[in-house]
Amino acid sequence: MHIVIQGAGRGLGLAFAHHAIQAGATDLYLTARNPKASEGYSQLMPSASIHWFNMDFLQPAQIASTGKAILDTAPHIDRIITTAGVLHDAKIQPEKQIGALDPEAMLHTYQVNAMGPVLFLKALWPALRRARPVTVASLSARVGSITDNRLGGWYSYRASKAALNQYIHTLSIELARYNDQAKMVTLHPGTVETNLSQPFRPNLAEGVLKSAAESADEMWATLDQLSPDDSGGFYAYDGRPIPF
Ligand SMILES: NC(=O)c1ccc[n+]([C@@H]2O[C@H](COP(=O)([O-])OP(=O)(O)OC[C@H]3O[C@@H](n4cnc5c(N)ncnc54)[C@H](OP(=O)(O)O)[C@@H]3O)[C@@H](O)[C@H]2O)c1
Repeated sequence: MHIVIQGAGRGLGLAFAHHAIQAGATDLYLTARNPKASEGYSQLMPSASIHWFNMDFLQPAQIASTGKAILDTAPHIDRIITTAGVLHDAKIQPEKQIGALDPEAMLHTYQVNAMGPVLFLKALWPALRRARPVTVASLSARVGSITDNRLGGWYSYRASKAALNQYIHTLSIELARYNDQAKMVTLHPGTVETNLSQPFRPNLAEGVLKSAAESADEMWATLDQLSPDDSGGFYAYDGRPIPF
């Protein structure tokens, strides 16, 4: 099994990398913005079967060159998981009201959360469109569901994840024309103990938070269970569909 995991340096991406090995992956193609400085690199050192690549979703040329480097290394690809997502970082905070909207922060969130994953899949397109089974999942978030949005707030994160859902849904339709064995979905991981959720933990109800390993295991099993007929959908970690 040849598995590509974008964002394997930490958090859910790293948990997916460990799960892939348990699930029998023979070769891993892992990306991070700065692999050598990442937790993932120290746990999964490069070897004949573990290949690391630098990739920052804010650099479109690097997305294209990394995609090509993966295609040049992998004989085929069985599963691709993209995990990039920003809700807060050194530059941005989730907006609670309209007055907090800042064009640079909006663009930053959109580039990482929505454009990056689909540009990476564009770069890997030659492997996807080959007529053979392939599973592709991009990590989205339930708050990207417009139907489910009753609380408001988090404008840019919500909008970027809604855009990601639309990009992946659209791409799944194009992909099915070439490869009817492909599954391509967006997934909500649940509320997971990673850097992303860290500032919001005090507000969580008891028992809601799960570990990255638990969430990755559940999502991996969900991906195994989905069929090509489910392609294009948006699913929770446990396989339950989420309305767009
Ligand atoms: N944790 C939750 O409760 C939760 C809930 C719903 C949805 N999600 C989604 O799950 C996904 C994984 O998040 P996480 O919980 O694992 O959070 P995390 O530990 O903060 O990881 C964030 C990931 O995004 C990557 N990333 C950030 N900026 C990037 C950029 N410019 N280019 C490429 N990659 C970039 C990081 O890569 P580097 O290591 O290279 O920085 C890292 O792999 C995200 O899409 C998030 O929206 C998480």
